[in-house]
Amino acid sequence: MISHKGQPLLQPETDSGEPGPPREVWGSKLGFVLAAVGSAVGLGNMWRFPYIAADSGGAAFVVLYILLLLFIGLPVLLAELAIGRSTRLSPIGALRASGGKRWAPLGMLFVATGFLILAYYSVIAGWTVRYAIDALVTGFPADPGARFGEIASGGGAVFFHLLFVGITALIVMGGVKKGIERAAVILMPTLILILLGIAIWAATLDGCREGYAFYLRPSVDDLLNPSILARAAGQAFFSLSLGMGAMLTYASYLSRREDINGEACVIAGADFGIAFVAGLAIFPIIAALSLFGDVGESTIGALFIALPTAFEAMGGVGRAVGILFLVALVVGALTSAISLLEVVTSSVMDELKASRRKAALLTGGAIALIGILPALSLGALDIMDHLAGDVFLVFGALLLALFVGWRMKGATDELSVGSRPIFVRLLPLWRFLLRFVIPPVLLIVFFTSVMAALKALGIMAD
Ligand code: PHE
Repeated sequence: MISHKGQPLLQPETDSGEPGPPREVWGSKLGFVLAAVGSAVGLGNMWRFPYIAADSGGAAFVVLYILLLLFIGLPVLLAELAIGRSTRLSPIGALRASGGKRWAPLGMLFVATGFLILAYYSVIAGWTVRYAIDALVTGFPADPGARFGEIASGGGAVFFHLLFVGITALIVMGGVKKGIERAAVILMPTLILILLGIAIWAATLDGCREGYAFYLRPSVDDLLNPSILARAAGQAFFSLSLGMGAMLTYASYLSRREDINGEACVIAGADFGIAFVAGLAIFPIIAALSLFGDVGESTIGALFIALPTAFEAMGGVGRAVGILFLVALVVGALTSAISLLEVVTSSVMDELKASRRKAALLTGGAIALIGILPALSLGALDIMDHLAGDVFLVFGALLLALFVGWRMKGATDELSVGSRPIFVRLLPLWRFLLRFVIPPVLLIVFFTSVMAALKALGIMAD
């Protein structure tokens, strides 16, 4: 690997003769792709996407989302993969190695973002685990709205949050191949089969047409509202796990033979496909029982109130389908949480030269502690989601695009390694998008999400 000055780029310490194991690598190409799809597919796909789409323009939103994915999400994903694979380091070291000391703080922002997102993401995942166990043992609650109020915060929420972080840490402790990859290879196909199965079953329900209409009725007018663009772009980043180094870290375990451009297309395609299918599964079920009123003001309404009400009303079949749906949600959340923790853990391993076990225990423990706050207060959860899930992610992605577009040397070469000719021909377009198109778009999105966060904090009036 030769840098622009003809000097070899910094190699990870463990590869350069210092004590310690060599850097771990994925067992197979499929393992990497499934782990990356696992990171991307999570609560954001099955919870946020269908709701936002139905609420913000239906089919018109879907078209806008696909465009954003192609011209904004995919290029930033490629930027992360290029940095990760070329440096073979976790975010802080990777940015230091490819951009010099001044860029290391961006890596630190990534780590802080991953840390904060996991702290509240695991609280929501904890609710899901609890719903699944409840559904298995006693069935869906008669009054899901009241039940949600009971379990959303308090001792139970803390317990299930701790349980979820604990399981995540155990898998991360297992390592790249034996922990993360193995989990993804088992869990992702399970999730895809369950979701497709439910979507097909939902198509047989009376009222499915109204469900599709509610989800996809195109409303081009909605798209004229600039906040919808910001919402769509923010969702694309969250959903693809971009802007906090998850994809960068996973790419740092790649050997250099593969065509990462092709892999990026598969990851982005699967992420969108699963989000889209989740909507096809959810809305006919809600429509079959005319529960659109319960979808209410928030995404939480759709997931934790309207759906359980529908499953309960459908008797035995509803219960079985409901449990399967919750299993898919938990699986998606888990493989995403693993990638969030891996960013933090691998950074502690690289920066502090800690063993994987120690690093995972330390970072998992700290996240478990901080997560107690959102588990006790929905207000805190909301603020953390606005700050880390929107503002930090978009800011991180903006700086990353500027870095790879303007500062990093050799990024285009890195993406050409092992690549198909068609992708090599598209690389100048990629560079152009990173330099001139993505930064202004992200600046607008950043501005919008800062305003939304200030409103959520109560600093600004609506
Ligand atoms: N992409 C995940 C989802 O859609 C969430 C996530 C964000 C995971 C950032 C890792 C990093 O739920």
